[in-house]
Amino acid sequence: MEFKNAVLLLFICVLCFQLSHGAKILGIFPMPAKSHYTLGNSLMRGLAEAGHDVTMISPHNDKVPTRNGSYRNVVLTGFADSYEAAMKRANPFEKSHSNSFRYLLLFQKQITILIEKTFENPNVKELLNSDETFDIVIVEQITNEAFKYFAHHFKAHLVMFSSIAADSKINYVVANPTMISYTPLVDTDFSREMSLYQRIHNFLLYINEAIIYRYHWLPFQNTLLQKYFPGSPSMLELNYNVSLVLVNSHESIQPAIPLVPNMIPIGGFHINKPKSLPQDLQKYLDEATEGVVYASFGSSVKAKSLPNDKKEALLKTFGSVKEKVLWKWEGDEIKNLPSNVKTAKWFPQREILAHPNVKLFITQGGLLSLTETIYNGVPVLVIPIFGDQAMNAQMVISNGYGLSLPFHDPEFSDEKLTPILKELLSNPKYKDNALKRSQIFHDREMDPLQKAVYWIEYVIRHNGAPQLRVWGVNLPWYQLYSLDVIGILVTIIGLIFIFIYIIIKYLLSFITKKNSDIKYKQSKGTKKIKKN
Ligand SMILES: *[C@@H]1O[C@H](CO)[C@@H](O)[C@H](O)[C@H]1NC(C)=O
Ligand SMILES: *[C@@H]1O[C@H](CO)[C@@H](O)[C@H](O)[C@H]1NC(C)=O
Repeated sequence: MEFKNAVLLLFICVLCFQLSHGAKILGIFPMPAKSHYTLGNSLMRGLAEAGHDVTMISPHNDKVPTRNGSYRNVVLTGFADSYEAAMKRANPFEKSHSNSFRYLLLFQKQITILIEKTFENPNVKELLNSDETFDIVIVEQITNEAFKYFAHHFKAHLVMFSSIAADSKINYVVANPTMISYTPLVDTDFSREMSLYQRIHNFLLYINEAIIYRYHWLPFQNTLLQKYFPGSPSMLELNYNVSLVLVNSHESIQPAIPLVPNMIPIGGFHINKPKSLPQDLQKYLDEATEGVVYASFGSSVKAKSLPNDKKEALLKTFGSVKEKVLWKWEGDEIKNLPSNVKTAKWFPQREILAHPNVKLFITQGGLLSLTETIYNGVPVLVIPIFGDQAMNAQMVISNGYGLSLPFHDPEFSDEKLTPILKELLSNPKYKDNALKRSQIFHDREMDPLQKAVYWIEYVIRHNGAPQLRVWGVNLPWYQLYSLDVIGILVTIIGLIFIFIYIIIKYLLSFITKKNSDIKYKQSKGTKKIKKN
């Protein structure tokens, strides 16, 4: 009897397991920076909560149990520590990284190290050497083409995730148009309304990047791949085999751009419902009826490595307003701290931004911070430091919900900063525009995380969903942009012009010859007459 029950129980368990068994999904998010991890982790957790069996390769270990599905960590041991050390060495507060050729190469060098260390990591090797397979492999796109190999290895459909909007470095993979005329390159400080000079500049930057990418970077990635996985399909073959691209964008945040059907915008998917604030902070914010300014330079740059003159400028500016100021500051206690300023090493940013007394957010302009501010309808003062931040600041200005003063502006001072801060706090138009953005953000057909889950399941249901791919992925670039057609037509038109030119020239010479013959005869005649 007992045995029978046990068998029955086992049978039911197996049945339950089979019924609730979702897809097997592998996520590869090797970037140690917190913002990248937050995005990857939110996506993979969302998939686990939807009942899937998720494996996450990342530098961090997420031990929170899942309510549904499963979440397994494959930790890239040592990545987080070496990143911390590298960030300490390369203090972005010190110099401005302009969009130079050198910077691009430097970035690619760092990514190469990241790829090699990932392939060499014992935990990753163990997974690669197991006989596991996956239904889906999701790779974060950050110029790390060689990681596309994981999908091939595990016989899975390949999904890419882009932590920024659709960008030239992912667009070409799914043949999404990159409109150079109104899409500035990520690390410029141009807005979508570019002058002719800026458009020429932007065009040249894109061409430069495309040439480096196609003729240096892709072949290099291929060499890397063959070194670690001899006999793997070529990089080009893997590169264009992407089923779906999830992009961290939405029209409430970034300018509208064209997207091919297998590019799905899911901007804002990482934001959970705000939790409750710690009691002391809740009290502080509730009592601040004059309003609160929240200032934070994000997670990857530490405010304590701020140069002294700029720190003083910020403190003077903060001290000049009647509102209270919360400043995320990781350094030692500040001696001349104005009485309206409160600092802490960490603040629950999302919960603070959700508080009705918060009137302004001072931020470096990272995409996640801007997304969170739009979610809550809070205006911003952007102080861009590096990367895409200067471009993001331009998006804020175009949408009218904030102002900006670049950190590396030679005139960065409290005299310049204070009037900007006062304008933002006194003119209601910034708040109105922030609320408008917030309405656009929330007005969607579907929650963005659910949307990501839906499209990944769609790819599984339709065996890679080739129907979503535009034909352009099969065409070489000169065919894709019709350059061969334009070339041939221009040649034909040119030939016709040359032909017409030759005929006209011939006719003209014929006529002038006749004319001169006549003249000659005439002149002969006159001579004869003269002689006579
Ligand atoms: C849990 O996963 C199953 C699929 O395995 C799904 O049908 C169900 O909706 C999930 N529950 C929640 C709360 O998402
Ligand atoms: C390309 O993707 C399809 C399905 O998404 C898969 O069947 C095929 O093996 C992949 N090709 C390579 C070279 O990995």
